[in-house]
Amino acid sequence: MAYAFEYHRRTKYSPSTLGQGHSIDWNNPPEQFKDYRGAPVYDMRPYLPTNQPESYSPERGLNDTEGPFSLPRLSMLLFGTNGVTGVAFAGDQQHFFRAAPSAGALYPTDLYLAVRGHADLPDGIYYYHVRDHSLVEVYPRGLAPSGDEIFARLRNACFGDGALADCRVALVATAVYWRSAWRYGERAYRRCLLDTGHVLGNLAIVAPKLGLCAGLIGGFVDGEVADLLAIPAGKEGVLAVCPIHEQSEFPQYRPGPTARPSPEPEPEPDADAIRAMHAAGSIPPGFPAEAVAGEGFDYPVNPKYEFAPGIKLKPGTTDMNDQIENAILRRRSTRVLSGAPLKLHELADLLAFAYRPDLTLAPDAQPRLFAPSLLETFVVVNTLEGVKPGVYHFAPGFMELLVVKQAEVRREIYHLSLGQELARDASVVVIHTSDMDQAARRFGSRAYRYLHLDAGHIGERMNVGAIRLGLGVSGIGGFFDDEVNELLGIPPKELCVYITCLGRPGG
Ligand SMILES: Cc1cc2nc3c(=O)[nH]c(=O)nc-3n(C[C@H](O)[C@H](O)[C@H](O)COP(=O)(O)O)c2cc1C
Repeated sequence: MAYAFEYHRRTKYSPSTLGQGHSIDWNNPPEQFKDYRGAPVYDMRPYLPTNQPESYSPERGLNDTEGPFSLPRLSMLLFGTNGVTGVAFAGDQQHFFRAAPSAGALYPTDLYLAVRGHADLPDGIYYYHVRDHSLVEVYPRGLAPSGDEIFARLRNACFGDGALADCRVALVATAVYWRSAWRYGERAYRRCLLDTGHVLGNLAIVAPKLGLCAGLIGGFVDGEVADLLAIPAGKEGVLAVCPIHEQSEFPQYRPGPTARPSPEPEPEPDADAIRAMHAAGSIPPGFPAEAVAGEGFDYPVNPKYEFAPGIKLKPGTTDMNDQIENAILRRRSTRVLSGAPLKLHELADLLAFAYRPDLTLAPDAQPRLFAPSLLETFVVVNTLEGVKPGVYHFAPGFMELLVVKQAEVRREIYHLSLGQELARDASVVVIHTSDMDQAARRFGSRAYRYLHLDAGHIGERMNVGAIRLGLGVSGIGGFFDDEVNELLGIPPKELCVYITCLGRPGG
């Protein structure tokens, strides 16, 4: 049996065990940024139009000011994906909030850039330093592999993925487990994946606005990519490789996810469940790749709900893509919801934006997900205009809410979200689940990554879409797992992946 089942079981919250097990070491908080002492640094701040006019100088000393990968464009791509969009002060401490939300604001996700043949950056691997909005060379000068070698190694590690063949810029997303595990213990791996999914969601929104396309590769030999980035095994895991191309030049899209060997070798007995889980979902060198095409926005209807009575969701007239990148920059998680109802067309706009293709973009420029057909979406209604409270299954392909049960469930949703008022006062609560049996049959334990990354990605689209519409939104990563199944009426082999609250801001 895939280790993912064991990890998931082991990291469940339940009313009888909550608060036991993990305790936070307040004297040892995690570092949010890496320090590559003495490394060459490329300041990306001068190329941000959001900066003060006096420090905005996009052309200063650049060889390339307008090309697809010019520093002004890369600067905006990185900023919109994961840049600092808010600062809070606590005494003399500054806390930096980012374009993408993160459970507990712990920000485990790091981005690296592989670059070759660039007019203003030497070939190399760069760490994106979020606080300083700079690119920091990972290898000491003179020791970096050549650009061609970097991309050859990356492509090899990704089973020859064609999108890396003529590629000059690729983003790699990783997660530093301890940042999140400091607070959340073993369950942190789930949050690392969800958080990273949110970051990937931003990338997919921002790239087309800059004339770029971001690919999404989930199948790679984990250790080989980690070696290339020079990150410490067991502490930080590679989660996605994203070749960046000009929109007009994006190569025919090929695989996204890759299965792992079956039957799975048991991970080394390891007290550290996060390390064991990442190892169980990793692909070792020499694995005969069985890559499958990444999925677009194509969702089969779950036959279980096929004949349930449905409520059609008709989007309104808002062009959700218009100025959507500005919504990323304004995005904050809503801390208080009012309990007031959403209108049906607002929910329709949001769900259409989150789940359906953007018809103004070419098929290859559409946001990519790993395996969204493995996710199920439930919409729990507290207060939604014209719709009775209850539990609904959402069928994205048909834009319908299919009735699971109609009843007042506010108390249950409040309880299962660990008593968070956000869930009680939401208009609707979107819950992502998956049949883990089915997912593991396709991808082994690696499926666990794809499910959480995709749910985070769709969650980010709901976050940004809600801000675009002036609505309130927050992710919820802490919930009583078995109670979610009970509310939705799903069997134990189906697991809750993520929860997003939507409503009208209150307070
Ligand atoms: C995966 C995930 C889980 C989250 N879980 C919760 C939660 O359970 N309760 C909550 O109030 N906020 C939750 N949040 C929101 C974070 O607290 C918020 O993103 C963080 O404080 C940063 O603030 P910002 O989103 O306003 O930038 C979650 C966010 C993410 C991405």
